[in-house]
Amino acid sequence: RPRVLSGIQPTADSFHVGNYLGALRQWVDLQATHETFYTVVDLHAITVEQDPALLRRRTRVAAAQLLALGIEPERSTLFVQSQVPAHNQLGWVMECLTGFGEAGRMTQFKDKSAKGGADRSSVGLFTYPILQAADILAYAADVVPVGEDQRQHLELTRNLAQRFNSRYGATLTVPEPYILKATAKIYDLTEPTVKMSKSSPGGALDLLADVKASVKRIKSAVTDAEREIRFDETNKPGVSNLLTLLSVFTGRDVPQLELDYQGKGYGDLKGDLANAFAAFVEPLQQQVTGYLDDPAELDRILAVGGARAREVADGTLATVYDRIGFLRG
Ligand code: TYM
Repeated sequence: RPRVLSGIQPTADSFHVGNYLGALRQWVDLQATHETFYTVVDLHAITVEQDPALLRRRTRVAAAQLLALGIEPERSTLFVQSQVPAHNQLGWVMECLTGFGEAGRMTQFKDKSAKGGADRSSVGLFTYPILQAADILAYAADVVPVGEDQRQHLELTRNLAQRFNSRYGATLTVPEPYILKATAKIYDLTEPTVKMSKSSPGGALDLLADVKASVKRIKSAVTDAEREIRFDETNKPGVSNLLTLLSVFTGRDVPQLELDYQGKGYGDLKGDLANAFAAFVEPLQQQVTGYLDDPAELDRILAVGGARAREVADGTLATVYDRIGFLRG
């Protein structure tokens, strides 16, 4: 079976629908056809300052959400990145293959460092995409399900794998991004031309947020001055985003929704989305609470995943070290 690896940061109290639609839904589906490795990337999280107690809590909350969404530990290797040292070890090798200018062209670094000033950003934030490449290459992943914002990091990963292979001989698998066009970029509800993110609190739709508060956010989502419900990302970004969300949560495709909502208003669209979203998150939240009630069991599941992940990643690392010319210990 072809391999999948993907990761998510434990840097918020909840995942949002952008994470879910852009990536996590595909993580769940790919379990049926692929050998799947999924990781909570706590090493990536500390590229910006994190409170230790909060990081520990959010790592468990992240794992609980993945389980509740349908990641099955019997089918997937679910693990915490810091429990697999080979990521850092392979990361160093990848850093030595990456050009300084090449790393400097990563737009996510440029965006993130622009906020606090590049001089105040950590070196870890700069090398972040290189560690991400190591995450992927350590598992010889063929496919990496992510949202549109990760495309450039995937391109870097591919380049590094090819560079290693041309220098040292065919060793690393060159991965393909798996980015579903319809849901590759979910937009902020209050600013529908900007991607939904953890740092846009007013316009994100969090899976674990109080349902009433989410309903309120949906109902006050920015639309436009027309009345027509039609998918048109250029002229009607807000309505188009709501249609994308409604499509996923009802299982009806967007053209069908356009027909169904002929003659109806934005209030109907928002009301139906609010109901569909609530129906999705209510049982999910209960399950997450259930997992969090037994943190020891959660930690055990992650430890089992970590052991399995170490086996695979250590294997890749040993081959890489050997090709480079390091002496075997
Ligand atoms: P992170 O934690 O920011 O986001 C997790 C996943 O959610 C996707 N995503 C979105 N998709 C659509 N619309 C949005 N508004 C939206 N916001 C977020 C992201 O594309 C991502 O797939 N660098 C990664 C984590 C990572 C990783 C990896 C991913 C570390 N190592 C190896 C894949 C493979 C990140 O920061 O994702």
